[in-house]
Amino acid sequence: MKISRATKSVKTEYILCSDEDVKTLGFAPEIKKEIKRQLKTASFAVCPSLGLSAYQHIAVVKKVQWSNNNHIRRCYGKLAFALQKSGATSIHLFIDAKRSEDLASIALQGFAQGVYRFDRYLKKSKHHIEKVVLSSSLSAKRFKSELAVVESIQSCRDLINIPAEDMGPDHFVQAAKKLCKGTAIQVKVMDAVACKRAGMGALLAVGRASPRKPRLLILEFHAAGNNKKKFHALCGKGVCFDTGGLGIKPSKSMELMRKDMGGAATVLNAFVAAVRGGLKKSVRVYLPLVENNIDGNAFRPGDIVTAADGTTIEIGHTDAEGRLVLADAMTQARSDGARSIATVATLTGAAMVALGRIHVPLMGDDDAHMKKVLLSAQNSGEKMWQQPLEHDHLLLMRSANADISNTGSNGEAGCISAGAFLQHFAHGTPFMHMDISPCSWSNKNHDLGPQGATGVLVHSLCSFMLSL
Ligand code: BES
Ligand code: ZN
Ligand code: ZN
Repeated sequence: MKISRATKSVKTEYILCSDEDVKTLGFAPEIKKEIKRQLKTASFAVCPSLGLSAYQHIAVVKKVQWSNNNHIRRCYGKLAFALQKSGATSIHLFIDAKRSEDLASIALQGFAQGVYRFDRYLKKSKHHIEKVVLSSSLSAKRFKSELAVVESIQSCRDLINIPAEDMGPDHFVQAAKKLCKGTAIQVKVMDAVACKRAGMGALLAVGRASPRKPRLLILEFHAAGNNKKKFHALCGKGVCFDTGGLGIKPSKSMELMRKDMGGAATVLNAFVAAVRGGLKKSVRVYLPLVENNIDGNAFRPGDIVTAADGTTIEIGHTDAEGRLVLADAMTQARSDGARSIATVATLTGAAMVALGRIHVPLMGDDDAHMKKVLLSAQNSGEKMWQQPLEHDHLLLMRSANADISNTGSNGEAGCISAGAFLQHFAHGTPFMHMDISPCSWSNKNHDLGPQGATGVLVHSLCSFMLSL
């Protein structure tokens, strides 16, 4: 689907506006009446123009709670879904120029998320809206950065939805290279040999039973005028498939484990959107890409592995692998000179128990960045909620035989103790962690898209990076 900005007046199949715009757009009384009738019981109306307007159809979003951006965004998402279903192919998204740029952005965000479909594996692809033209007060610059965000959300959803067969570590690297092409992002790949040289015993233990070898993908953006050695780091869990290892998952729990690279997909796409949107600070992204699989060479419960920072880790469970690969990615970020480290991961089932699919749990000691990311989330309509993270949580990860265990005590505070494990590897570098395991996936169609990957946090993290 191509989204563009109207530079001159356009004539397309649909016009889409708010019921407030209806008053000023000079539609025929019959049309106004029909719109009013439909809006009595629904949040939007679609009506054929019966030759009474330059457009064939008129779609109207009810001017409900214009002060609530989340509501507006969802409204436009729902409308996009309905229009696409009805067979529309081109939309003229009209936002009265008197309205703010913010409203136009929000409408665009909702609309572009609502039209998303994952149909590349269908013999006959689903119907798509092919063209969206936006008429609004949005400046060309703002449009460009908003477009980068919505395209990145769609791309993030794609990467997560694609089956693990077609999204192993190397596929992911190729996809990342493609996304970074034409941007100022430098792509570096540490292969298994380079990881071994760097002493990444934790990452390599997780990846060693898969024929698809582990990689640490590093993406760098150096902002003009910034000290080359100073940058902020984001690490994303890239477990391309999580069988659970020898502590194998029951088949129901394994079913969706292609989404276990969601942290990496989110960080990658947020980063690309931020760079396209004019990132001003140096940022590096560390994505450990592995497959947690099983063979005769698999790592075992009770094994003790040595991470790249020298910490020995007792394997309490081979299914707690995300924290192991992130630990080594964090060490690489730290030794490269990161000023702060943020981790994003589908890390625990316990996140679902804590906050469900509604809020992303956030925790850490980097108060300044946590404040920024919470604000970015609020403005993006993505819900995030801070959890406590204290030394007591780290004590839950004690091991009798090694420096630390990769499992806590009976799952107590499971989401936070996983965060405490990661915090250990920050060694005092300002740290924050977001567990996207529930929110990155929706089991049913929702206002902003179909069942499947949601692309949660792409928007918030892009805004966060732009606010650095
Ligand atoms: N990838 C899972 C977490 C997960 C679970 C993501 C459900 C999405 C949906 C992770 O690697 C895992 O299995 N974690 C274990 C840790 C436990 C063994 C300490 C968990 O949460 O059960
Ligand atoms: Zn696991
Ligand atoms: Zn996992």
